[in-house]
Amino acid sequence: MTTHPSPTRTSSPPGDAVVEITDLRKSFGSVEVLTNITTAISQGEVVCVIGPSGSGKSTLLRCINLLEQPTGGTVLVDGIDVTDPDCDIDRVRSRMGMVFQQFNLFSHLTVLDNCTVAQQVVHRRDKSQAEQVARSNLEKVGLADRADAFPAQLSGGQQQRVAIARALSMEPDLMLFDEPTSALDPELVGDVLAVMRRLASEGMTMIVVTHEMAFAREVADRVIFMDGGVIVEEGHPDRVIGDPQHHRTRTFLKRVLDPTHVDPDADVEPGDDRRAQIKEAELSARGEPRVSSDMRDQRF
Ligand SMILES: Nc1ncnc2c1ncn2[C@@H]1O[C@H](COP(=O)(O)OP(=O)(O)OP(=O)(O)O)[C@@H](O)[C@H]1O
Ligand SMILES: [Mg+2]
Repeated sequence: MTTHPSPTRTSSPPGDAVVEITDLRKSFGSVEVLTNITTAISQGEVVCVIGPSGSGKSTLLRCINLLEQPTGGTVLVDGIDVTDPDCDIDRVRSRMGMVFQQFNLFSHLTVLDNCTVAQQVVHRRDKSQAEQVARSNLEKVGLADRADAFPAQLSGGQQQRVAIARALSMEPDLMLFDEPTSALDPELVGDVLAVMRRLASEGMTMIVVTHEMAFAREVADRVIFMDGGVIVEEGHPDRVIGDPQHHRTRTFLKRVLDPTHVDPDADVEPGDDRRAQIKEAELSARGEPRVSSDMRDQRF
């Protein structure tokens, strides 16, 4: 068997913070959508981020890899401040895998090529090294036999598993997932969650924005509940999901777990936002694709 050289990695020792976020703020125009977010993610930790639509979950992930430029505060990844203008963000990004709700595969490339392009460009691996890494990750996600297929020939769940294999092929220290199963038909969700569960058990550091409460409860070391751009509470999933301390967390969980629930403490009739949240919770509870605020904002 041929071997390929290990890429240079500077992983932190177990327990060290891979991500340290301090007083992170983000505004779009005059609207502040993240307010003083402070938290840290340790090596090997699996953190699930939950919260209503528009609470800032995606923006938080996007500030970690600088797809959004924070308005204030600092984000350290492996000790490197990504908000520093002198930071080599491409180098930092090469240590993070990001998996989105939409799979963002190149439709004109085969599954194998989708998983090798970035390795060749960023890690400067030659084609055969890159293919070897890609094939082993395709095997890991159960798609070794689909290497020569094009994305359009695969189901949504298979495409999402290719997106995970592509991210893993960069051999990241950290994986960021933004609602990776929200766009999938219910019967395809399980295979993707199984791959993520396996990654978690292998010690991958993961931040997962999700509405899959059962997954969060089973796999997360910690759950962060966000609402209105702040962390309302965080802690062990048995506490945050099983015994939430804050009214806002309880209201959100009731909505997700019982979509028809109407908060008796609400002093106003449900408005458009409230109805949209109820609708969204209904879809989520049925496992149907949700309309994220990202998608809602796209007007053509
Ligand atoms: N590029 C942008 N320009 C202006 N406003 C934005 C932009 N991106 C996000 N927002 C706003 O920031 C807020 C937080 O959005 P974000 O996408 O982070 O929420 P979310 O919790 O991920 O929601 P969802 O569950 O629907 O995906 C929302 O009010 C959203 O409309
Ligand atoms: Mg989002």
